Amino acid sequence: MLKVMIIGCGGIAPAHIEGYLHAGEDATIVCLADQNLQRAKDLMERYGLTEARAIEDYHDGLADADVVSVCTPPGLHRDAAVAALEHGCHVLLEKPMAPSLAECDEIIAAAERHGKLLSVVVQSRFITGIRNVLDMVRGGAYGKNLYARVHSVWYRGESYYDLGWRGRWEVEGGGCTQNHSIHHIDLLLWAKGMPASIRAMMTNLNHHNSEEEDFSSSVLRYPDGSVAELTSSLISHGEAQTLIFQMERAGLRIPFQAFASKPRDNGFPEPDEATVAEATADFESRPKLALENHDGQVQNFLRAVQGKEALLATAQDGRNCIELITGVYASSITGQEVVFPIGKDSEYYTGAWRAKAPHFFEKSKDVAAFSDTTITSFKNKF
Ligand SMILES: NC(=O)c1ccc[n+]([C@@H]2O[C@H](COP(=O)([O-])OP(=O)(O)OC[C@H]3O[C@@H](n4cnc5c(N)ncnc54)[C@H](O)[C@@H]3O)[C@@H](O)[C@H]2O)c1
Repeated sequence: MLKVMIIGCGGIAPAHIEGYLHAGEDATIVCLADQNLQRAKDLMERYGLTEARAIEDYHDGLADADVVSVCTPPGLHRDAAVAALEHGCHVLLEKPMAPSLAECDEIIAAAERHGKLLSVVVQSRFITGIRNVLDMVRGGAYGKNLYARVHSVWYRGESYYDLGWRGRWEVEGGGCTQNHSIHHIDLLLWAKGMPASIRAMMTNLNHHNSEEEDFSSSVLRYPDGSVAELTSSLISHGEAQTLIFQMERAGLRIPFQAFASKPRDNGFPEPDEATVAEATADFESRPKLALENHDGQVQNFLRAVQGKEALLATAQDGRNCIELITGVYASSITGQEVVFPIGKDSEYYTGAWRAKAPHFFEKSKDVAAFSDTTITSFKNKF
């Protein structure tokens, strides 16, 4: 029986608890830790976790755990993950892996030193409609991907940044590119791998209580000559998030839609209905995941810990997201194209660059916690 501990009992913790409860694997939640003890107690009560204990200092629970979910704010990910790995626990770490590449490497080194599994949350990989389109993109039947367009467009109201740990570069680590678009960035990386270089700009359009960006736009070049565009936004009503992969034979979109054109003699397009029908039938014939979102990722993580299947979301995947996001920030700040990989000798390898980041606004309001901790997400849109 795997003994599970949750560190950080705020907004995202219920998704982890439900994941462990739904996974159907041999795992039991033995400990909930939060510096605000009442939060841990509230979740114990809400989920009827009568066998678990609630603690304030997570260090006091590590000796009894085999598996730890880290659900603290990003700036605390490194300390909690490294401590858990050093106690011999396997770690499921919330996104973003950590606000700097140096911290990511410290966490990866701890996992390697202690021979433990480390997975970073990317629950979108575990949504049927997303997984199946990405498998179509990666499978090669539609030719090479020439151009991808990622619209990671979210909506958060002004008060979102009133929460104490949000809205400051040094504490949160970044705005919508790091904390929201990361879901779609991971999907882009899963489909196309790391780009060779990136050129980006960022600004803050309408969040006056945040130093950080609420909008960024980037163009990515790939070693095979293909390109991608990435838009990250927190001001987008309706959150019409889309990823479009223009392949040689067809356009494949998430949420699923297939497009296909064929040229007439003069090069002008006419619809290629046969290819649209082929891609649609292909998509519809693909399997439906039994467990989705966090439930799916927690199950994969537990099975990987038990040696039953491969880990689908690795620590390197988490690090790649941070490297690409660091590229967005570095290019936006310097006005220059950034070439990957970002070396350890770069000033952007550690988080020190944040001291130079523009403050779009000064943060003047902080609340320790909202009375409503529920979060809404895009999980049902695919
Ligand atoms: N995967 C997703 O879709 C998703 C969605 C929301 C948040 N997140 C991520 O989850 C993490 C937490 O976000 P949240 O929205 O739950 O934040 P939150 O502020 O609601 O909760 C964080 C909790 O951690 C606790 N905490 C802080 N320091 C601690 C410490 N040293 N020891 C123990 N507990 C501590 C706080 O008291 C709080 O209860 C962030 O990394 C965020 O980016 C992921």
